[in-house]
Amino acid sequence: MRAPLSDLPIVLEDAAVVVGQLTILNDVALTLAAGAPTVLVGPNGGGKTTLLRLAMGLLAPSHGRVTWGGRIDAASTRRAIVFQRPVMLRRSAEGNIRYALSAAGVARSERAARAAELLALVGLSELGERPARKLSGGEQQRLALARALAKEPQVLFLDEPTASLDPTATKAVEDIIRTVSERNIKVVMATHDLGEARRLAGDVVMLHRGRIVETAAAASFFDRPQTAEAGTFLAGELLV
Ligand SMILES: Nc1ncnc2c1ncn2[C@@H]1O[C@H](COP(=O)(O)OP(=O)(O)OP(=O)(O)O)[C@@H](O)[C@H]1O
Ligand SMILES: [Mg+2]
Repeated sequence: MRAPLSDLPIVLEDAAVVVGQLTILNDVALTLAAGAPTVLVGPNGGGKTTLLRLAMGLLAPSHGRVTWGGRIDAASTRRAIVFQRPVMLRRSAEGNIRYALSAAGVARSERAARAAELLALVGLSELGERPARKLSGGEQQRLALARALAKEPQVLFLDEPTASLDPTATKAVEDIIRTVSERNIKVVMATHDLGEARRLAGDVVMLHRGRIVETAAAASFFDRPQTAEAGTFLAGELLV
């Protein structure tokens, strides 16, 4: 059954993540609303992955709070996340999707049709019988997207979905992200690729050393960055 309540907006208020003595995220105030993708950028170790995990609800904030559609304890049935290195089950590509459909509570009688739809959506219809772990990196990333979509999420978190993919494979993944977004699924993604951020983002959140240094509509972020850090980062200079 589909949960009747919306998970959007996701609101992070004064959120911090502290592990031991280390503050990984601090002072995070952010609203993730319906609309075009929100793209997280910034140098390595800035806190992008941690922020995705926090907004997904996999991590609890050490300070502050996170709410989903105004609720603090919203179960993650309407949210899905694809990690940077997705782990495939040792079965066929279609088997991986069927497993996700089963976990999402889709009736057995509907799974074959839904799996076929999802394989088609990510351009893997021809490869459904292949062992998932034998697929190329780009194909596995597309399969991971299909698997995440099995639960018909309202919000999809993606952690560097095109890292280490070549331009053709990157374009295939970006096309899927656009399709997903056009279907009114809110995409929140981290990337190192500023070209990709330009191509996909509605708004951009730049993280540096665990803090948000800038949140802006994509056009204004790229044309008129407001902070010195964002200017340096966009100029391709090392931000340390
Ligand atoms: N569970 C943890 N325990 C200790 N340190 C952690 C933990 N999780 C993350 N960190 C540290 O917090 C910082 C932020 O990590 P995070 O993975 O969120 O950054 P990132 O922006 O995704 O980096 P990258 O671009 O390299 O993927 C890093 O310095 C990382 O080592
Ligand atoms: Mg990361």
